[in-house]
Amino acid sequence: MKETWWKEAVVYQIYPRSFNDSNDDGIGDLNGITEKLDYLDELGVTIIWVCPMYKSPNIDNGYDVSDYQEIMEEMGTMADFDRLLEELHKRGMRLIIDLVLNHTSDQHPWFLESKSSKDNPKRDWYVWRDHQTNWESIFGGPAWTFDPKTQQYYLHIYTKNQVDLNWENKEMRESIYEMIRWWIAKGVDGFRVDAINHLKKDYSDMPNPQNLPYVPAWEKFTEVEGLQDMLTELRDQVFKDSDIVTIGEANSVKSHNMEKWISEHDGKFNMIFHLEAHKPVDTNNVENDLDVEDLKEVLNRWQQATHGIAWNSLYIENHDRPRTVSIWGNDQKYWYESATALGCMYFFMQGTPFIYQGQEIGMTNAPFDDIDMYHDIETKNIYRYKCKQGVPHDEVMHVIKKISRDHARTPMQWNNQDFAGFSKATPWLGVNPNYQWLNVEAQKNDPNSIWSFYKKMIHLRHNWKVLVYGTTELTDSGCPYVYAYIREDQYTKMLIASNLSEKTCEWNSPYDAELFLSNYEKRAKGILQPYETCVYFLKKEIY
Ligand code: GLC
Ligand code: CA
Repeated sequence: MKETWWKEAVVYQIYPRSFNDSNDDGIGDLNGITEKLDYLDELGVTIIWVCPMYKSPNIDNGYDVSDYQEIMEEMGTMADFDRLLEELHKRGMRLIIDLVLNHTSDQHPWFLESKSSKDNPKRDWYVWRDHQTNWESIFGGPAWTFDPKTQQYYLHIYTKNQVDLNWENKEMRESIYEMIRWWIAKGVDGFRVDAINHLKKDYSDMPNPQNLPYVPAWEKFTEVEGLQDMLTELRDQVFKDSDIVTIGEANSVKSHNMEKWISEHDGKFNMIFHLEAHKPVDTNNVENDLDVEDLKEVLNRWQQATHGIAWNSLYIENHDRPRTVSIWGNDQKYWYESATALGCMYFFMQGTPFIYQGQEIGMTNAPFDDIDMYHDIETKNIYRYKCKQGVPHDEVMHVIKKISRDHARTPMQWNNQDFAGFSKATPWLGVNPNYQWLNVEAQKNDPNSIWSFYKKMIHLRHNWKVLVYGTTELTDSGCPYVYAYIREDQYTKMLIASNLSEKTCEWNSPYDAELFLSNYEKRAKGILQPYETCVYFLKKEIY
């Protein structure tokens, strides 16, 4: 595979509202990120991805953009953005920003014009119809809203304040391309492209045998025939000729059809987030504990399908999912062990690893009992619609306590002072009370902390090319709940084994081989203890 900077990178995802508040108004901001660049540099990350910081009414925390070329007031100014970019580049680090192209805010001037009259020149930039289809939106409720003034419906596959752009309209597309070129000219190093599998729609009703008011309609707006032509144009018009990296969020792509998305010869993006491995923590799948065999099947299938022809992203957390250590691990008895074992499991596969803020210190789900402690629009909608359907209150809260997106959005825990050192003012979303002991300061100088473990993993990746370009092969430990694989090139062979359960695994470990990394101080020959993880050199030739 061709060697490129982004294949060798380690990415750190920042949810800016929750990362660091520089002016003590309770909301994280761009200067707050700049203040922490040395922290990120020390950890070893080389790219940061910042979630939307554009002007926005914040119905969906910035994923509802009202001006693509302005900074949200709460986040700072364009000058702050430029300084962040400059400070990153000074340190040899790079910046990826989020691009939200499927929809804009209903407060975007384009939409205000579009809705002003039926013959407005921008009317066709959005989707207007005399009759709605029977689709349900992704966040619940109908996907169409009636506009009394012009007597038509407009489409929104997320909230009614996130209005779908009409990608069939050439003029609209040209404006989007201009905007993206403007950011590239500014010097950003790449884009994470939001919800990109939804640009094309099939405007027909869903079958509705149960006569529901609206029907989940995923297939009507996901990977619809013709989407690839749109993505090809996007790539050729704006991405192709610059040295940037693109990661498409496309939670529908399967390993057998990934080539048109990410192959080196015809991919529309350099990587995608396919989210297939996250099915076990899906909103609709609350009681499902981690099934390691299932996880292995999914991740290994992707590893084998992409090897030699395509690249991909590696991740276990993001701003839309609960905390992995709480969902897949054990955030009580095996907090340290399970956080490090899960980290080690995904970090050394083929692909570019992403770390979500707080993951490097093992941040956990928040113990918020009351719906008023939550802020996320999706969570609020789940609450509203489930209660309306008559689901008992405790049952609804049980679901929310497990899967709310807010678990990933509580303020970053920097130290044990007020508000975890995130801000001096009450933050926009409550701090997880475990900040008293679970924070960066407590871990940074402790060689046996989750933070130090992540730092070692990052350095191992930077120092050993086999972990970037080598082959990947699953290996059988004899225990279905152990995830073990081998990375190999002509000089080096490494074994990465992680016990992802509370059971002990008896196996024929290469105990005498050189050990690079382990999360247990007291190791035992022939067994992997609960959540024990280790990285061995099986072959190490100097080159
Ligand atoms: C993506 C984002 C999510 C957002 C949605 C709508 O899935 O990751 O946070 O709510 O798109 O833009
Ligand atoms: Ca602030």
